[in-house]
Amino acid sequence: MSTTDSRPTLPSPRGSLSERILQALRTDPGGLVTDAAAVALAEPEDAALTLWVLQELSYRGFQDVPETAEWEPPVLAVRRHLQVDLEARLRSRWPGHQVPESDFAEALLQFIQDDDGPSVASYVHTHATEEQVLELLRWRSIYHLKEADPSTWTLPRLTRGPKAALAELQYDEYGAGRPDRLHAHLFAEAMAALGLSTRPGAYLDECPLEVLEMNNAMSLFGLDGRLRGASMGHLAAFEVTSSVPSGHLVRGLRRLGLAEEIVEYYAEHVIADSVHDQLATRLICAVLAEDEPEQAEDIFFGAFTCLDQEARCARTLLGRWGVAA
Ligand SMILES: [Fe+2]
Ligand SMILES: [Fe+2]
Repeated sequence: MSTTDSRPTLPSPRGSLSERILQALRTDPGGLVTDAAAVALAEPEDAALTLWVLQELSYRGFQDVPETAEWEPPVLAVRRHLQVDLEARLRSRWPGHQVPESDFAEALLQFIQDDDGPSVASYVHTHATEEQVLELLRWRSIYHLKEADPSTWTLPRLTRGPKAALAELQYDEYGAGRPDRLHAHLFAEAMAALGLSTRPGAYLDECPLEVLEMNNAMSLFGLDGRLRGASMGHLAAFEVTSSVPSGHLVRGLRRLGLAEEIVEYYAEHVIADSVHDQLATRLICAVLAEDEPEQAEDIFFGAFTCLDQEARCARTLLGRWGVAA
């Protein structure tokens, strides 16, 4: 292991499945024996942690796993079982939605804005303690330290219009050509200013099932081209519901006198995401639904999944803090 390697090492296992898979990844990924029954019987947290690790191999990977592990057939077989299982669970939660016959963007926007899930950001604005905010940031760091990466997987799967619009949105997320302005980097700088680790996945061991599943769903939608509609619907819900909560966070962080870097990170999103939500709903999702009508319902499914998982995470976190949600 190199001391300059900024990648994380493998997290702690959470059960017999992750114990066995993590051990194989470290030592002999190609020699892993796929046991479909063990995968099917794994406890939810054990399965979610295993899938998070396996999907992470398609991002920057781990210091203690050989890079060849990503494409080893037995590793892919376990990942496939877990992805099928996750998709089935997400679809079982989806109540369905009538695909609009006209003005797709407006209908999608309305669907997202009608969501009335609990808001951690409103609580941070007025009540949260510094300790609670740091816990929130540690949980959010699993995504924000690789912010925008899951949607990038969808880019080559799109038709011309949505592809151009997603590239525009991602250009902004990736700093518009400036390495010091990548949103993931701005978040890392804020973590450092708060005395927290900037290593991706550093706080994974303390993240509950809901956080693992939220990250796994984003990766699943991005990595599986068949789910491009869900990936873009998820992105739209994420962007539409970002600007106002980011404003609440800015005011809450200022109230607590936390480092200016984290205030700036959220202040940047108040402005950027008020543009990104238009790009995502009108120029990505609506045009995608026009170009590929069979993806239209999955766009709503992806948006629903984003909102549903945000609500699950919010309820878990507020529950830990003793706040009724
Ligand atoms: Fe961003
Ligand atoms: Fe954004």
